[in-house]
Amino acid sequence: MTADRKQAAADAFDSAASDYLESAVHREGPGLDRLREVFDEASGPVVDVGSGAGHAAAAVVETGAEPVIALDPAPSMVRTAVTATPALEGVLGDGERLPIATDSVGGVTSRVAAHHLPNPRTFLEEVNRILRPGGTVVLIDNVVPSEPDLATFYNRLERTRDPTHVACYPLEQWRQWLETVGLVPDSVTTFRKTLAVEPWLERQSPSPERRQSVFRLLLEAEEDLIEAFEIEVSSEDGLPQSLTTTAIITARNPD
Ligand SMILES: C[S@@+](CC[C@H](N)C(=O)[O-])C[C@H]1O[C@@H](n2cnc3c(N)ncnc32)[C@H](O)[C@@H]1O
Repeated sequence: MTADRKQAAADAFDSAASDYLESAVHREGPGLDRLREVFDEASGPVVDVGSGAGHAAAAVVETGAEPVIALDPAPSMVRTAVTATPALEGVLGDGERLPIATDSVGGVTSRVAAHHLPNPRTFLEEVNRILRPGGTVVLIDNVVPSEPDLATFYNRLERTRDPTHVACYPLEQWRQWLETVGLVPDSVTTFRKTLAVEPWLERQSPSPERRQSVFRLLLEAEEDLIEAFEIEVSSEDGLPQSLTTTAIITARNPD
């Protein structure tokens, strides 16, 4: 079941590589700035798990770290990343079974990909396994409020748009998993990101029914959801837009 689900996610992303390469929200953002701050010439090798079209991996290349490995289960994502940034090494792989030797890398990052993994804790165990002592992971992903109703709404919205979405979790859950696998969190920041519904939908090419369901969920949302996710109708195009929260968590493999 998990294997089928993972294959479905890889297949869905395989046909979307060029959209992700061009996507404005993937080309920039505080997560990329954090990668440029954290890594340097001494950090390599650095692995970007769920690299997509390679925006995070390319930001790590700018730091002088080498080699930088763009790892993704979707072949066209890996090809697109390496074509856009030839300094990258492309590797096909699953975030929960990294084809990388134990204690062999100085850095790992994963940006807006962990919510596609059925077993996030297994992913973190793998990250901890491949990091050498003192190595750093920068995990960047959307997170949900800790109130269950708000979290359920957000994950339902994401799954309606993209059936391969597994789940976004509250920050406390990530912190607990990191500690359980032996990683030491050392900084956590969050930022709000506008979810302009039209380009966000387009990247996954949902059916007309799915599009309607997404609009319905947003336009019929109750007051507490409107407030939590700042749902509003854009004055520019009359379409709903909303805000999500993204966390940047930096943690270390202890010396
Ligand atoms: C939103 S894209 C990533 C964007 C990219 N990290 C960036 O910074 O622009 C999510 C990626 O997660 C990948 N993915 C899905 N399932 C995965 C898995 N089991 N292991 C690793 N990556 C996975 C998808 O193929 C896709 O390329």
